[in-house]
Amino acid sequence: MKKETQHIKFLLLVVFVALSCVCVAIINDLMSPLSNPILINGAHVNKRFMLWMEEPTPQTHTTSPNTRSIRSKTIYPIVSQGYKINNKDICRGVEKVSVIVIVHTAPSHFLRRVRMRSTWLNSTYYSPENVRVVFLLGLVPDLITQVKLEQESKIYKDIVQGNFIDSYRNLTHKGVTGYKWISEHCMNAEIVAKIDDDAFINFFKLFEDMSDLKHKKRTMYCNKIPKGSMAIIRKNTSKWYVDEYEFKDMKLYPHTYCSGFTVFISIDLIPMLYRAAIGSPFFWVDDFFLFGLLPSRIPGVVHEGIRPNLTFMPKEAYTCYIRYGKNCQYLVFPAKDREISKMWLAMTHDRKQSIYGNYYMNLPA
Ligand SMILES: *[C@@H]1O[C@H](CO)[C@@H](O)[C@H](O)[C@H]1NC(C)=O
Ligand SMILES: *[C@@H]1O[C@H](CO)[C@@H](O)[C@H](O)[C@H]1NC(C)=O
Ligand SMILES: *[C@@H]1O[C@H](CO)[C@@H](O)[C@H](O)[C@H]1NC(C)=O
Ligand SMILES: *[C@@H]1O[C@H](CO)[C@@H](O)[C@H](O)[C@H]1NC(C)=O
Repeated sequence: MKKETQHIKFLLLVVFVALSCVCVAIINDLMSPLSNPILINGAHVNKRFMLWMEEPTPQTHTTSPNTRSIRSKTIYPIVSQGYKINNKDICRGVEKVSVIVIVHTAPSHFLRRVRMRSTWLNSTYYSPENVRVVFLLGLVPDLITQVKLEQESKIYKDIVQGNFIDSYRNLTHKGVTGYKWISEHCMNAEIVAKIDDDAFINFFKLFEDMSDLKHKKRTMYCNKIPKGSMAIIRKNTSKWYVDEYEFKDMKLYPHTYCSGFTVFISIDLIPMLYRAAIGSPFFWVDDFFLFGLLPSRIPGVVHEGIRPNLTFMPKEAYTCYIRYGKNCQYLVFPAKDREISKMWLAMTHDRKQSIYGNYYMNLPA
């Protein structure tokens, strides 16, 4: 009798272990994007092959004839793989999108995105201007977050998830994915705004006072960092540490660039920037790569500074709006989490009417 119980216990143990193995295998498979076949230049390639490849495949991007002329090797199979989540219709249904906002967001910032959508990123407040939004993120290691992101995408249809691991040192991939996505799906936009998810833009001011950007070519409006003015950090204890072999022997960044908190870009530049990225070696400091290095490879790009109309202190922006209402000079400022609705109310309290008359009819009471 005793022996039989032990047998059964042993059998149960074996079954349990076997089932666990299967489960772990399935979960691993779901969570690791690289273990699934990946599409490179139209061919399915698996993880082992990716690891085995010494050199990444040179790109032959077929949608644009100009790309073929770029011969240099690239580390951008990442952008040839398509998206884990895509919402292709974000810019469809209207002839012109006034601004496409590309938000570099962290996957876990669910609540922050909800707050942004219900306030200043809700396009109903700007009619007849069309504001469209993409929340751009990368791959996440855990299945629960992935499922939540897919639900979020179903509800709001504004998520784009690229095929790269979402991490601080991969923000360059996020930016290049944004350039690619716009080139493919949003060329009817008049202005591009790349922002971090703690930035806040006063679109009323943009449309009333700064819409000249719509008519400009090869232009970036941003917090401009002139060439030769920013140190390349070599101290390996810093968050922004750059290896000595990258920009070897240089002490300062060699091109004008933008701090990436908020950057307005004329639409004509986007496909050029994307093509430049395909032919450029990876460099992880995204602000320099996206807004300095890539533009340096395109003739005639102009960086225009907006420093007087930007603050990095949320309190300052808040006080300014409470005091001066729509005459406050700030176009761009930080606001995250609870600050978002406070800032929205401060910014809109005297905007029931505008220079357009009943232009912004849908503002909250
Ligand atoms: C956008 O604003 C409209 C009008 O106030 C509202 O009905 C809608 O729910 C808002 N959308 C989101 C995503 O919060
Ligand atoms: C960046 O993403 C690539 C592609 O997913 C991945 O192989 C790499 O490990 C990531 N790097 C970091 C620092 O997360
Ligand atoms: C950082 O640099 C110092 C000397 O320059 C070196 O001793 C140390 O090992 C480095 N640390 C890391 C984590 O690379
Ligand atoms: C930008 O800031 C300057 C200086 O405060 C101000 O004169 C100008 O009107 C501002 N521009 C806008 C569009 O608010």
